[in-house]
Amino acid sequence: MTMLDSVDNQATPDSATASAIALDDRHVAHNYSPLPVVAETAEGAWITDVTGRRYLDCLAAYSAVNFGHRNPEIIAAAHAQLDRLTLVSRAFHSDRLGPFAQALSELCGKDMVLPMNSGAEAVESGIKVARKWGADVKGVPAGETNIVVAHNNFHGRTTTIISFSDDESARRGFGPYTPGFRSVPFGDHRALADAIDANTAAVLIEPIQGEAGIIVPPDDFLPRVREICTRNNVLMIADEIQSGLARTGRTFACDHWDVVPDVYLLGKALGGGVVPLSAVVADRDVLGVLHPGEHGSTFGGNPLATAIGTTVVGMLRRGEFQLRSTELGEHLHSRLTGLVGHGVTAVRGMGLWAGVDIDPDLGTGKQFGLALAERGVLVKDTHGSTLRFAPPLVVTADELDWAVDQFADTLTEARR
Ligand SMILES: Cc1ncc(COP(=O)(O)O)c(C=O)c1O
Repeated sequence: MTMLDSVDNQATPDSATASAIALDDRHVAHNYSPLPVVAETAEGAWITDVTGRRYLDCLAAYSAVNFGHRNPEIIAAAHAQLDRLTLVSRAFHSDRLGPFAQALSELCGKDMVLPMNSGAEAVESGIKVARKWGADVKGVPAGETNIVVAHNNFHGRTTTIISFSDDESARRGFGPYTPGFRSVPFGDHRALADAIDANTAAVLIEPIQGEAGIIVPPDDFLPRVREICTRNNVLMIADEIQSGLARTGRTFACDHWDVVPDVYLLGKALGGGVVPLSAVVADRDVLGVLHPGEHGSTFGGNPLATAIGTTVVGMLRRGEFQLRSTELGEHLHSRLTGLVGHGVTAVRGMGLWAGVDIDPDLGTGKQFGLALAERGVLVKDTHGSTLRFAPPLVVTADELDWAVDQFADTLTEARR
């Protein structure tokens, strides 16, 4: 019996699921609206719930599980490190941080790494580094620095980051907001150039906007942003937290356009789906602006996370995940594109990362997410009627076919 054969499509409400959800409801802040699936175990591209039902994971924890759930190589590295040393803080050196920083710098073609934990922390750290670089290196008067960002960006949830979001539900009630940001339409290089002035320290951009619905910019956009940043002595900061580390078929999404930013922000899959691990990666003339006491994190760069991160970088160096994402991504996109005109209005993305717009007359993304979960496929909606398909990169072509078949069936049902 294959994994696919074992999917039981007859969802029945059960007490284990209901009581787990009720417990969450009572004691967990309601800042998410999860699908009614209670995960208990997972392996590869599959999640098993508390009733033993299997689901094909087509979200991969927003790309944090690019290498599959409990990838054996990553789990072995984690186990080995758990038996040696887990945390010392940066008050001391550990024998794991240096090798990780060296491996990640080399992967990025940069000099140095600033290790952090969550993606939002990497973004915050990138903003602080850019402001400091603006003051110390570029000579922007203290407190006058600005950073150019894009409309519909998603860079995380801290107070500063939501200050330059245009998602009202992410902002409302959380003011006062941090000043110093200018937002321009994503993909519009002229507007971006116009927004830059003598006090601009950086352009902060997702190469492909993830939460906005997997929005791929016009082909000339990122090369032009690179050129505009260089011409104006402005740092180009690429937030590759979701788009990076093989998700789009290349190590970094920027690679598709042969663009090398000044600063990479990395997270999610860097921690191998096991621990939070993020990083700001740049050359010495940028990260060198930080001196002892100016920035830090108790957990950032801890031995457990960096042992895992070094393993992840080693896996990326082999190139097999990038190749899988390219080949299987072509397959996924051609299957999904075949649904355009049959309930789907548009398909976007690169590699194993697809944003699918559903005809809003047929239902919301959330409704389709629920219907697909009933059929054993886990996807997440974003912005009304858009669904994202972002399975772990260990998924097979047969599994993708099966997931798209389930999606096609839900569309057919909705059109009846
Ligand atoms: C592009 C991007 N940047 C930053 C973040 C924030 O990462 P985290 O949730 O780990 O703070 C995300 C999360 O989805 C993201 O997609």
